[in-house]
Amino acid sequence: MTVLVTGGAGYIGSHTCLELLQAGKDVLVLDNFANSSAESLKRVQELAGKELKFVEGDIRDRALLDSLFSENDIESVVHFAGLKAVGESTEIPLDYFDNNVSGTVTLLQAMKAAQVFRFVFSSSATVYGDPHTVPILESFPLSVTNPYGRTKLMVEDVCRDLAASDERWSIALLRYFNPAGAHPSGRIGEQPNGIPNNLVPYITQVAIGQREALNVFGDDYDTPDGTGVRDYLHVVDLAIGHLCALQKVSKQTGCVAYNLGTGTGYSVLDMVKAFEKASGKAIAYNITARRPGDIACCYADPTFAEAELGWKAEKTLDQMMADSWRWQSQNPNGFAPS
Ligand code: NAD
Ligand code: UD1
Repeated sequence: MTVLVTGGAGYIGSHTCLELLQAGKDVLVLDNFANSSAESLKRVQELAGKELKFVEGDIRDRALLDSLFSENDIESVVHFAGLKAVGESTEIPLDYFDNNVSGTVTLLQAMKAAQVFRFVFSSSATVYGDPHTVPILESFPLSVTNPYGRTKLMVEDVCRDLAASDERWSIALLRYFNPAGAHPSGRIGEQPNGIPNNLVPYITQVAIGQREALNVFGDDYDTPDGTGVRDYLHVVDLAIGHLCALQKVSKQTGCVAYNLGTGTGYSVLDMVKAFEKASGKAIAYNITARRPGDIACCYADPTFAEAELGWKAEKTLDQMMADSWRWQSQNPNGFAPS
């Protein structure tokens, strides 16, 4: 029995494919390389000492999906494929709705036609908008502040409606907090496109000399040191969360959302210090204006995921930073040849 992994060549997808292979699963990846390359999958197979099947193509291509379902014994789908840059989503929202929402609807239609009803979806803590309090529980009200976030909430709504319409569906909505880090081998990691939006890749690019200094977006938030607080989660822990979710959807039907986070918040300056400690590199930074749309503080209450999925983040902030640095320093150009 095979797990179809859409977007499996990307950052979280590649780490998840590795965990799936190591757990003895057969893996079929569908990716259009919009934000990745075949090199990540080559390395995943090297690390696992096992092969996966790979098809270059788009989740919006219904004929291709139908052929994948008819030619492979697919039991469940882990769905990472999509666009993820918040700023870009405000400039080209239609591309985001097309890829993330229409693409997912096409995928779900193909699953239904093939009678495959187990679905694990990459949602995001962005669906909580600006939470009125922390830690954040799954039951908190949902709202969004940008088109990217809206695509995640729309897909969640589609999934809830679908599960309500037909009890054969079994769907896990995984609300990731802030994924960071890389595989400890240093062979796979995140390759941001252009200037990184996210904090950790920006810090590692400063450390390697590709960027001059980190801009710390505001030090006047209502947080212990005034800088933004987030729940940073090691990508390997996150990958393992998908295995736990697959177990769950094999046992229970319906549509359920789970927070995947550590439950601990760190500030931007905590992250700078932790990186300096792990890498031995000093990080130059300037305090600048707040980034529009940012919130002060966001961290998970992860107890539901622990109780229901048997999943808990295990890795420390030091490991996250050491692994990020190993990946960045050993692969200064990401997966491109150096
Ligand atoms: P990524 O860009 O590294 O991976 C996404 C993969 O999907 C890429 O390999 C890309 O080429 C592929 N893809 C995009 N559109 C496609 C399409 N139409 N058809 C086929 N393949 C397509 O991103 P990631 O960080 O690994 O994120 C994976 C998922 O998790 C995304 O849905 C993202 O929105 C979600 N997510 C990510 C974060 C984060 O901080 N990285 C946080 C919350 C949620
Ligand atoms: C961003 C996205 C969010 C997405 C999440 C994980 C926005 C508004 N939100 O959230 O939708 O789910 O990534 O991919 O983009 N920071 C700096 N300097 C930098 C970069 C970041 O100070 O150069 C600060 C930010 O202000 C924030 C923290 O670092 O306080 C984390 O930022 P980031 O990694 O972009 O994640 P989020 O803002 O949580």
